[in-house]
Amino acid sequence: MGGLSPEREVSLRSGKNVCVALSRLGYRVQALQIDHPDQLVPALYETDIAFICLHGGMGEDGTLQALLEILGIPYVGSGVLACGLAMNKIQAKRLFQSQKLPTALWAEYREELWPVWREQIAEEIGFPCVVKPVAEGSSIGVQIVHSEEELIPASQATRDEFGNFFVEKFIPGKEITTGILRIDGEDRALPLIELRPHREFYDYIAKYTPGECDFIIPAELDAQTTIRVQEIALQAHRALGCFGFSRVDLRLTPKGEPYLLEVNTLPGMTDTSDLPKAAAALGISFDDLVERMLQTALEKEKLKPKHVLTA
Ligand SMILES: Nc1ncnc2c1ncn2[C@@H]1O[C@H](COP(=O)(O)OP(=O)(O)O)[C@@H](O)[C@H]1O
Ligand SMILES: [Mg+2]
Repeated sequence: MGGLSPEREVSLRSGKNVCVALSRLGYRVQALQIDHPDQLVPALYETDIAFICLHGGMGEDGTLQALLEILGIPYVGSGVLACGLAMNKIQAKRLFQSQKLPTALWAEYREELWPVWREQIAEEIGFPCVVKPVAEGSSIGVQIVHSEEELIPASQATRDEFGNFFVEKFIPGKEITTGILRIDGEDRALPLIELRPHREFYDYIAKYTPGECDFIIPAELDAQTTIRVQEIALQAHRALGCFGFSRVDLRLTPKGEPYLLEVNTLPGMTDTSDLPKAAAALGISFDDLVERMLQTALEKEKLKPKHVLTA
């Protein structure tokens, strides 16, 4: 938990909750708060299973997962490639598109296009639109832009702070998130959650300040729409090769058309987080959820090829 990404504080809250649950479940738990990369490798030598509670950056983008693979330490959730693909919103959108899964129209920022950027966005995407860093989370750096006048400063600021970014068509309607969890050996979609932030959109404050967002669980949608959203979310999880659990964010237009925003391979486990709420709606307690997440580490090991030479 912890780590060096902008989501450090959220991660510490997730990690604390998971540690308490693992202790209650009877596991021997060593909380490892990462403040500096040097701490990591020595601590990992003592580890039987890594329950990763990092969000964003090297904890969620496949980098830490790669290190754990090399060290032969089982870890929860998705593997290296799926984490890398999910963390990069543009690569993820390309994969959604290749699987004919709905995702909002977007334009990637490219330095050489800068002089015509404004015109391209106005013509192809229109306003309002959403400016987003390629590989952040927790709505960090996400901005809704209402006019051409706002676009240039928003783009410049995003480029300066995050480097790669893209602009996406604004999808009106509802904010829906779908937890995915492995139940009886199969990854399944949990009951849908509708998020009604008291702010313009589901930004960092709405996400992590109690009272800034209403959670409607299960989302008040007809059965057909619910099943369609769950199916699309599960397909998105599979398209990226995710394993065991994830949380898929979508927008649902007033006509009931879902659009995928992103897949989170290490969803929050804080007191206000969505995955625990979605699991609870199915009668799965926080401890039970943590136990199931932990088991994904061992299940993943069983699926590995057996012919690998080990020292
Ligand atoms: N295309 C869009 N249309 C409308 N709202 C959006 C769009 N993209 C992002 N948002 C808003 O910004 C939030 C964060 O965007 P998301 O792509 O999920 O990134 P993050 O990884 O930061 O959660 C969404 O939950 C939603 O409220
Ligand atoms: Mg999101």
